[in-house]
Amino acid sequence: MNPNTVRACAVDSLKDGEMQPVAGTVDPIGIGKAGGEWFAFENNCTHDDFPLTEGVIEDAEIECPLHGARYCLRTGKVRAVPATCSIRVYPVHVVGGDVFIELPT
Ligand code: FES
Repeated sequence: MNPNTVRACAVDSLKDGEMQPVAGTVDPIGIGKAGGEWFAFENNCTHDDFPLTEGVIEDAEIECPLHGARYCLRTGKVRAVPATCSIRVYPVHVVGGDVFIELPT
């Protein structure tokens, strides 16, 4: 892990299919779990600035609840319009009972 790693949450704080904003980061970041996998992502829909943690996470994709844009949580690329710009995604590490996010250095 790089020195710019932050603790996102406890492993047992989210069930599969759940997400939440990460507290204390400069940029808005969300953490979520789907299919037993953890994902960290820019918590802001690029279509009209809406928090993606209010949407749905499923099969390594996230859907914005406002107008239905979808993003791949592995690459950040748009999978469904109306968004046209990618979101940032971040490496996630599970260490013991905690989930950590690697931010850019
Ligand atoms: S704000 Fe997310 S699809 Fe429009």
